[in-house]
Amino acid sequence: MTEQSEPIAADPRLDGRAVRRIVYDAGTIAARVQELGADITAAYPDGELLVLGLLKGSFIFLSDLVRHIARPLQVDFLVASSYGDAMESSGVVRLLYDPETELAGKHILLVEDIVDSGRTLNRLIDLLGDRKPRSLDICALLHKHIATELHHPTRFIGFDAPHEFLVGYGLDHAENFRHLPYVASLQ
Ligand code: IMP
Ligand code: MG
Repeated sequence: MTEQSEPIAADPRLDGRAVRRIVYDAGTIAARVQELGADITAAYPDGELLVLGLLKGSFIFLSDLVRHIARPLQVDFLVASSYGDAMESSGVVRLLYDPETELAGKHILLVEDIVDSGRTLNRLIDLLGDRKPRSLDICALLHKHIATELHHPTRFIGFDAPHEFLVGYGLDHAENFRHLPYVASLQ
């Protein structure tokens, strides 16, 4: 369903750079994001909901997702830095922007592009939990299921991702490829 046979080197967005294959095409992503929105709507029957996007990777996913959540909500973002230009996590997470919205007493849904080592999330969950939210959960578009020491389960997952370096639909390599409307595996 998600594999594509058409050679993607023809995509002008890639400027001739190598992308191995499309892992999730735009239609597959859209259908799954709609389902996630319905699941999230059902999971929060009452209370205030703050959807907190982890920038930059979640920007496209979050903007599609919130339009499928049929209840009142607020949106804010956090900026953390962990990878730099590398393909592997450094384990050091820096908060470059801290949300100004009040978190206490609200349902917080932290939106991530991908859970890989889980180091970024562990650090953020500890930090956000200290601010006394009513609940704190994670929604990730992709989950590689390789993290061994997650402090918190990921409640909402779009896709169980292959153990490859993925780009597109918000995910980058050295800030490139975020604008691809699909998720592709980098060579
Ligand atoms: P973790 O701390 O190892 O779980 O990685 C967290 C962050 O690393 C994600 O939010 C992404 O920004 C980035 N990352 C992890 N794996 C990938 C990948 O396959 N492609 C692009 N970015 C990734
Ligand atoms: Mg990145």
